[in-house]
Amino acid sequence: MTKKLLFVCLGNICRSPAAENIMNHLVEKQGLGDRYICDSAGTGGWHVGALPDRRMRAAAKERGLDFVGSARQFQAMDLREFDLILAMDKDNYRNIIALDPQGKFTDKVKMICDYCETYTDKEVPDPYYGGADGFNYVIDLLFDACGGLLKSFPKN
Ligand code: 4NP
Repeated sequence: MTKKLLFVCLGNICRSPAAENIMNHLVEKQGLGDRYICDSAGTGGWHVGALPDRRMRAAAKERGLDFVGSARQFQAMDLREFDLILAMDKDNYRNIIALDPQGKFTDKVKMICDYCETYTDKEVPDPYYGGADGFNYVIDLLFDACGGLLKSFPKN
């Protein structure tokens, strides 16, 4: 059975597309491409249709990765559609949960940093208003978190 994963941040141009692309990279590397569907969304709609932020794409490029995607806004239907929804920070988490007033899908919504194996961060810091270092930090942190996430799934 294919598992559907949705990564969520605020704008869907920095953190969550990075998580989506990194997860796809790890899944492909392990030959598990047919087992997972990864997507990302933002709780805000300002950047709908946009590519990942050019600074994030540049940081990825330095590691030989091409970050692709087109921003979209998170919608209540996503709670039904996806098996696991991974919030980058607590605000994202609150905004996702707010679209599920009956709490039917609470168990599907997790903080991505809960899967970190090395980093102790509780949230993925928003790099949008900072310097280039922030983008590199987010990529390193998300490699750790996505690696842990992949290990958390049953092998067969
Ligand atoms: P993201 O970063 O949530 O990681 O995509 C942001 C992108 C855009 C804005 C804020 C955060 N913004 O305010 O436009």
